[in-house]
Amino acid sequence: MIFVTNNPHKLQEVNAMLGGKFSLKNLRDIGCTDDIPETADTLEGNALMKARYIYERYGVDCFADDTGLEVDALNGAPGVYSARYAGPGHDSEANMQKLLTELKGKSDRRAQFRTVIALIKEGKEYLFDGIVTGTILEEREEGEGFGYDPIFRPDGYDHSFAHLGDEVKNRISHRARAVEKLVEFLKNR
Ligand code: IMP
Repeated sequence: MIFVTNNPHKLQEVNAMLGGKFSLKNLRDIGCTDDIPETADTLEGNALMKARYIYERYGVDCFADDTGLEVDALNGAPGVYSARYAGPGHDSEANMQKLLTELKGKSDRRAQFRTVIALIKEGKEYLFDGIVTGTILEEREEGEGFGYDPIFRPDGYDHSFAHLGDEVKNRISHRARAVEKLVEFLKNR
């Protein structure tokens, strides 16, 4: 099964969740160095666009994911634009800084991470999603992880994803929940 990603952190995260049940390959393993377009305006659209790109060119079963951080007080922004919230060429630091600035003085700091996985298996398309709800902290907490992890505190916990670390995050995250649905589906076939 090909995981349509160039992000080694994500491949490692999802491989850990699969616990050896499936062997995942990534784009490098199939010799794909293309910059795969993700220009849709929904998470579902982007996940499908990436999976279709690989299926059409390589003819292999594959899945792709797309994730967004949806903040209530910002009407769901940055959402599908989470990676480039602070503009093209900006990094996670700039994205987090922009979000903290946008939320300054706002009491409603509710947010959720949402992952959508698009699977193409034997030519058929399937969608799975996973959500984790939580709060945007007033300031960042150091630790592991990537993206908005230092400022997102999942419900039921006292610290950010970054502070909680990969072991906890891999159990409860949006991606974990979507991957669980994917694995359940694959096991039942
Ligand atoms: P992607 O679709 O998984 O590449 O995610 C888009 C953007 O959402 C990333 O560039 C990150 O900024 C953010 N993001 C996705 N997943 C996570 C996560 O698990 N923790 C923190 N930020 C994330």
